[in-house]
Amino acid sequence: MTETVISVSNLVKSYSDLNAVDDISFSINKGEVFSLLGPNGAGKTTTVEILEGVRNRTSGDVRVLEQDPERSKSLIYKLGILPQDFSFIYNSTPKEALNFYKGTLRASTDLDEILAIVDLSDKASTPFQKMSGGQKQKLGLALSMVNDPEILFLDEPTSGLDPRARRNIWNVIKTLKAKGKSILLTTHYLEEAELLADRVAIMNRGKIIDSGTPMEIVERHHEDDNLIIRGDGEVSALLTTGGYKFEREGAYIKVNLKSIKDATQIINYLYERKAKFEDFTLKRESLEDVFVRMVGEIEEDEAE
Ligand SMILES: Nc1ncnc2c1ncn2[C@@H]1O[C@H](COP(=O)(O)OP(=O)(O)OP(=O)(O)O)[C@@H](O)[C@H]1O
Ligand SMILES: [Mg+2]
Repeated sequence: MTETVISVSNLVKSYSDLNAVDDISFSINKGEVFSLLGPNGAGKTTTVEILEGVRNRTSGDVRVLEQDPERSKSLIYKLGILPQDFSFIYNSTPKEALNFYKGTLRASTDLDEILAIVDLSDKASTPFQKMSGGQKQKLGLALSMVNDPEILFLDEPTSGLDPRARRNIWNVIKTLKAKGKSILLTTHYLEEAELLADRVAIMNRGKIIDSGTPMEIVERHHEDDNLIIRGDGEVSALLTTGGYKFEREGAYIKVNLKSIKDATQIINYLYERKAKFEDFTLKRESLEDVFVRMVGEIEEDEAE
């Protein structure tokens, strides 16, 4: 049976006349990675901080592990929190920071192991202000794991990281998921959400405009698939003769497909005519492609 660890019903958060979160509902199951996506100012951090108990809501109902985060005093021991733009005391080292959290949260975790997981062992004694942006981020992630929490709130855990460090954090998130942790992840990297999230919700201007698995969202919103062929002028000439609609982009030819099944027919057509082409791929739009269009269309509608 699926166990719900977070449920949000008709949540509203207003700052004077702005509804930063405007009547949203969703739930997160135990063991799930759920990703909130949306452009700057969409209301992601506000939502996450209400769930953490850091901010109060204006109206609606919120349950985290069956408790109201606004009222519960014990919930904090079961949550792991990496705030957006995490920062720590100027002169303190990761070791000191971890020890402080361990004491405050009454945890019994092996701190060396946590430092190793986030690949920060060699910076254990470096003062915070001498750490790079990515190292600070890793410390934030380490701190969120100190109390072996049931739920982790990771607000843009990989922003500003180099590709290797980003992959390292992806692996940490995968390990946490494998241990059965539930994770609420916000990110601007759609590829990251596609890779890690079981389900995503796309927010814009305080509202959830769609939610589902990344595949379901792409399925619902994608435009035509394309067959990308790397080939010369001879290939394009044959495609013209065959009556296929295509565009050339450098060495690549992008053939618009009305149905994905047409791809085999086109490849066969070219093979039969002994056309010389290097390779071909079938390309469906990514989550990022559909996201940019979904969010962009709303902005355009509102500008009219
Ligand atoms: N304390 C506050 N007082 C007034 N307005 C606020 C406050 N905090 C956030 N807002 C506004 O609420 C809206 C949502 O902000 P929020 O930080 O939740 O967005 P976000 O989706 O996390 O954006 P980003 O991707 O930039 O982190 C924004 O318009 C922001 O200006
Ligand atoms: Mg934010």
